[in-house]
Amino acid sequence: MTHLTVDHVKKVFIGRNGASHTVINDLSFQVEQGQFVSLLGPSGCGKTTLLTILAGFQACTAGAVTLDGEIIKAPGVERGYVFQNYALFPWMTVKANILYSLKIAGASREKQEARLNELLELAHLKGHEGKYPIQLSGGMQQRVAVVRALASRPKVLLLDEPLGAVDFQMREIMQNELDLLVRQVATTVVMVTHDVSESVFLSDRVLVMGAGGCNLLADVPIETSRPRDRSSRQFRDYVNDLTELLRKAFHDSNPALSL
Ligand SMILES: Nc1ncnc2c1ncn2[C@@H]1O[C@H](COP(=O)(O)OP(=O)(O)OP(=O)(O)O)[C@@H](O)[C@H]1O
Ligand SMILES: [Mg+2]
Repeated sequence: MTHLTVDHVKKVFIGRNGASHTVINDLSFQVEQGQFVSLLGPSGCGKTTLLTILAGFQACTAGAVTLDGEIIKAPGVERGYVFQNYALFPWMTVKANILYSLKIAGASREKQEARLNELLELAHLKGHEGKYPIQLSGGMQQRVAVVRALASRPKVLLLDEPLGAVDFQMREIMQNELDLLVRQVATTVVMVTHDVSESVFLSDRVLVMGAGGCNLLADVPIETSRPRDRSSRQFRDYVNDLTELLRKAFHDSNPALSL
């Protein structure tokens, strides 16, 4: 059985004037257990919409998304979500942020403490659990957001541009950390990103989505050993090929703006 399935998904939004806007026309792909898949595509092509359908935050208009054969209809603890810019609760300490979903799920105090210690260890955050997000560096905030999403041991981790607001140098450091962290928990990951190099560095597969109805333009397996060497010829070839595909997708959606 395939782990995560996007099966002929269509998503139509109806505007206030009654006009319909088809964001996703007919999208299908499958993700194997433990795979790290990135979604690239022009702005507005429906990446976040698809991720929120996988999370169960909203339903698709037609088609279905399934996890281990079960249709996804609502949010669930087996799917962890990291919002853009981390979206930590600023009024809660690191500890309270991480334990949030476990508390809601009604885990015992002992279980919560045990899991908290594991996660702090995993994310190199020991000693920082009493701090508030504002007291942490960008890299630490990102690690809190990821382990918060991992707290309930989800089968799938959904990441929406988790490093979108980070500057170039910090971004590479955080990509290295994210790579190590998700390798350790061996969970399935679907990540939206605008950064081609980031997708090649982290993914087993990169899906390129086209604008205007959002169908798949390409499904590219990244077949180099880890940790990936950003300066290698092979790495740069992947980045160049994917950039070309994205340029084409952008051109198709904005012909007047393309060079
Ligand atoms: N709730 C909604 N109601 C109406 N239209 C929506 C809604 N959510 C998204 N859209 C529209 O759907 C399209 C896709 O939005 P989405 O946020 O999925 O794009 P995206 O690919 O994530 O873009 P970006 O790369 O800029 O984040 C946009 O045109 C957006 O305006
Ligand atoms: Mg988006």
